[in-house]
Amino acid sequence: MPVVHQTQEVRSLLAPARAAGKQIGLVLTMGALHEGHLSLVRAAKLECDYVVATIFVNPTQFDADDDLERYPRNTTADCAQLEQLGVDLIFAPATQEVYPDGFTTTIDPPAVAARLEGKHRPGHFRGVATVVLKFLHMAPADIAYFGNKDYQQTLVVQHMVRDLNLPIQIRCCPTVRDPDGLALSSRNQILSTSQRTQAQVISHSLNHAQQLVSSGERDAKAIKNAMQKILSTHGISRIDYIAIADSKTLEEVAQVEDATIVLIAAYIGQTRLIDNQLLTLC
Ligand code: PAJ
Repeated sequence: MPVVHQTQEVRSLLAPARAAGKQIGLVLTMGALHEGHLSLVRAAKLECDYVVATIFVNPTQFDADDDLERYPRNTTADCAQLEQLGVDLIFAPATQEVYPDGFTTTIDPPAVAARLEGKHRPGHFRGVATVVLKFLHMAPADIAYFGNKDYQQTLVVQHMVRDLNLPIQIRCCPTVRDPDGLALSSRNQILSTSQRTQAQVISHSLNHAQQLVSSGERDAKAIKNAMQKILSTHGISRIDYIAIADSKTLEEVAQVEDATIVLIAAYIGQTRLIDNQLLTLC
């Protein structure tokens, strides 16, 4: 399995696959791979004839330098896992390849980027949209796979693809969780044992929201208060947001209806985690 670092190499390797009419799948990652990433690769392998995975820790989507510094990196282990799953090509460019000297062009992200993560991490989605568009050009594919774990990010990518008429389909794959409910995230690796225990309360609070809805509660404020109480009882007090929103627009709602989603961003120590859950009415 080739591991390449230059755009030109990716294009030359993809050209014969494309000429042979193969369906090309693309999985974009920042490495430090876990089962969540691998689930995207598996989905791509099921549907596509040729699968490309990328590994690139994108500096422009980090807001604080220390977050970028602390981001886990393990390219050797990543490549071994990808090879085992039968990925056809890994593209792991250097920063200079993605952001050449003099780089100034960026993507103004779609409106859905302005809320929630966009509000709390100014510039984050500009960085994400720009790097995703770049990769869609550098490694042209038919279908790209994204995770619902980063629900707003997937919406941003879908809207960008629609708005800019990009010739690619976007697939959204379900969130993979540890047995205790914690959504897998590369950032989980930097949690201490006690923080790891505390982190599972995030998904418990989302489950509690669903339980309240299942028992007839529809008032968003009441549900958010109940979630906040669970979090604070377990020592989670630094919460960027708990939002109950329309799942298509991410506009916050006062009442839970069909297609409502609950999203959360909270800190466990220095580590910021996000999670979400679609709410079902029955
Ligand atoms: P990263 O956090 O490495 O995630 C890469 C992809 O894996 C994203 O589509 C993300 O939603 C998905 N993913 C992460 N955790 C998951 C889980 N527990 N279950 C299912 N899918 C999961 O997201 C990024 O990188 C970057 O922003 C990127 C899109 C690569 C642009 O730099």
